[in-house]
Amino acid sequence: MERVLVTGGAGFVGANFVHHLVGRTTADVTVLDKLTYAASEASLAGLPPDRVRLVVGDVADQTAVDPLVASHDAVVHFAAESHNDNSLTDPGPFVHTNLIGTFTLLEAVRKHDKRLHHVSTDEVYGDLELDDPKRFTEDTPYNPSSPYSASKAGSDHLVRAWVRSFGVRATVSNCSNNYGPWQHVEKFIPRQITNVIDGIRPKLYGSGENVRDWIHADDHSSAVLAILERGRVGETYLIGADGEKNNLEVVRLILKLMGRPEDDFDHVNDRVGHDLRYAIESGKLRQELGWQPQFRDFESGLADTIRWYREHEDWWRPHKDRTEAAYALKGQ
Ligand code: NAD
Ligand code: TYD
Repeated sequence: MERVLVTGGAGFVGANFVHHLVGRTTADVTVLDKLTYAASEASLAGLPPDRVRLVVGDVADQTAVDPLVASHDAVVHFAAESHNDNSLTDPGPFVHTNLIGTFTLLEAVRKHDKRLHHVSTDEVYGDLELDDPKRFTEDTPYNPSSPYSASKAGSDHLVRAWVRSFGVRATVSNCSNNYGPWQHVEKFIPRQITNVIDGIRPKLYGSGENVRDWIHADDHSSAVLAILERGRVGETYLIGADGEKNNLEVVRLILKLMGRPEDDFDHVNDRVGHDLRYAIESGKLRQELGWQPQFRDFESGLADTIRWYREHEDWWRPHKDRTEAAYALKGQ
């Protein structure tokens, strides 16, 4: 796989993947990205220009996608509208990018017989009760809650249908919540870190009992690369690192690591339809492909991430005021 097309490579997880791919393989990479509000070209800074190029375009635009797919060996599809809160105020872009964009890519890989890996989320499975001993597996029925998770669920179904109906060589992965460098300040962890840097109290939705299963974005990247290289075509793999924490614990840990009192945060309006708990059982990926996470200690991974945001204010500052102004309008 010498030529890899990465959609959404100027976003958070996509940029982490491009750095990982360039560091671990000899592949040449083309990033196809629309450069929405969520993207930063700066996330790709420092990568070798002879191996990485950026094409600005829409994954739902067949005239842009078709020739790019034709000239690459494999496609890794990250491009998406990704924020639940935004999907509750304006779902249209989620349907466009996550559904029409994935459809457009599928038609191109079908036409040119290329390998596709589709990156998705555990949120397609809906949520679990706090005391449920079960975690999500590849066999959990789909039950998405928000326009974001429903559009991702639809995109997964399209990929599976194109595998079965047309023999497209695709794999799917569903990963839990990522943290790490290059994550937009609208998301939970970077929002709170940059709030503390700015002297603003962290904002916890509702009671803060909601649980997310945190994984470092570099571990997500190594899992996607393992699936791309060694995964069985037509299969789905769940990606997770046994990182369940409730939001209250995460806020308290951020405050502690940043030298603030652990109760120095505000409760704000809850998210409508807020999923209670996500949890991943990733045995299939570990047993079949021998994958293991490298970041096993959440506190030290979080400390690294806090250091990264402290050292890269130029990267996040341009997005901060607009993000907080939008939250303020919703009492969040
Ligand atoms: P992000 O919002 O940070 O980045 C999305 C990127 O896609 C941006 O660079 C944006 O410009 C680009 N994009 C959006 N619409 C586009 C379009 N129409 N054409 C081309 N590019 C477009 O999102 P993220 O958090 O990096 O998520 C990337 C993928 O990983 C998504 O598919 C998401 O569902 C999946 N995922 C994310 C997480 C997580 O915790 N962040 C967890 C599991 C799965
Ligand atoms: P988020 O990063 O938006 O990811 P997701 O919705 O995909 O899980 O939110 C993570 C959790 O943090 C979720 O339970 C909502 C909560 N949250 C807050 O409590 N405060 C915030 O300011 C934000 C953005 C999220």
